[in-house]
Amino acid sequence: MASFLQSTDPAIYDIARKELARQRTGLEMIPSENFCSLAVMEAQGSVLTNKYSEGYPGKRYYGGNEFIDQSESLAIERAKKLFGAFAANVQPHAGSQANMAAYFAALEVGQSIMGLNLSHGGHLTHGSPVNFSGKWYKIVAYNVEKETHLLDYDAIKKQAIEQKPNLILCGYTAYPRTIDFAAFREIADACGAILMTDMAHIAGLVAGGAHPNPIPYSDIVTSTTHKTLRGPRGAIILSTEKFAQKVDKAVFPGLQGGPFEHAIAAKAVCFHEALQPEFATYAQAIVSNAKALADELMANGFTLVSGGTDNHLLLIDLTKKGITGKEAQLALDEAGITVNKNTIPYDTQSPFITSGIRLGTPALTTRGMGKQEMAVIASLMARVISNPSDAAMKQKVREEVKELAMRFPLYPELG
Ligand SMILES: Cc1ncc(COP(=O)(O)O)c(C=O)c1O
Repeated sequence: MASFLQSTDPAIYDIARKELARQRTGLEMIPSENFCSLAVMEAQGSVLTNKYSEGYPGKRYYGGNEFIDQSESLAIERAKKLFGAFAANVQPHAGSQANMAAYFAALEVGQSIMGLNLSHGGHLTHGSPVNFSGKWYKIVAYNVEKETHLLDYDAIKKQAIEQKPNLILCGYTAYPRTIDFAAFREIADACGAILMTDMAHIAGLVAGGAHPNPIPYSDIVTSTTHKTLRGPRGAIILSTEKFAQKVDKAVFPGLQGGPFEHAIAAKAVCFHEALQPEFATYAQAIVSNAKALADELMANGFTLVSGGTDNHLLLIDLTKKGITGKEAQLALDEAGITVNKNTIPYDTQSPFITSGIRLGTPALTTRGMGKQEMAVIASLMARVISNPSDAAMKQKVREEVKELAMRFPLYPELG
């Protein structure tokens, strides 16, 4: 097929082809990344990008929205069905904007949020002092337990009763274990707080039944659509009847202008895909691959935060290996294995250096890899981490990575 991009802008076309080659020949193990379907990409690259549609289906500030309304309504209905929610707002541009809108809907500026300590697995928007969340709201952080690195629900409840936050936030960026949403509901009720869940990371697992669903317990649930859910880059907010209107008003006109209707159509496609029975098989495979990778890494002498995983992600504690997260990320990158440096709970290193790396299996599972490949990948990682400055060895691993990756073709239709 002729490429319009290639003839109009060869520079950008060339960059996109190089990125495709990078994705095809490497092992993408950043747990927040995935490979969406060509159908999702087609919707995202469609004429729907041309339309202004401020407002909501049936209540727009611009004419000509009869088809856009159908697309956004489909996205809303599918999101509600997928997660069993009362209401869905499908307009947030990204996870950070969804969290901003959720706080805006639930709180007055200056009220307090109790979320997980950022260096224990919380996200920037959960209260970082350099983020709007930490600037506009009073943050009281809870920690994971020092020895087990698990959430200690009794300790969190005690702290919540003492500190009486207005909103309690669960759902994380780097927590490898199952979240007990019923326990969080009890904690929120014990101190009269609103319960918000940010399921950005685990939404695909929730959709596929591989992680408990926060909806029955939470007042507001935010999520990205591009991580385990395998959709386009974007986000949604699900809520109860009590918060539905507040959320809609917070997104528009509160925070955003014209919605990205091309992205919303792509979200609709993603929800349709996630509603199919095969998606449950996919979600279970992400988790069983992560468990297999965890076992193989531990067999290769790695220490895992919390001793393993229940979900799609793993956090390696590199302290005993004598290498920082930053060095490990770089060495693995050179060998074609993409992970990200990450603080571990109670880390003594800065967030720029870190003592850990975070990795996961959503993208590898999308490619069709299974337990056998997880064993190979763990031993490739062990070779790199045990001798990170050996350039010849990294080159050899790079070749083996490429050979493995090419056995699981990515987007063969793209030529
Ligand atoms: C738990 C959580 N919430 C929100 C976000 C923000 O999403 P985005 O990068 O789309 O703004 C992330 C991103 O990694 C995340 O992990």
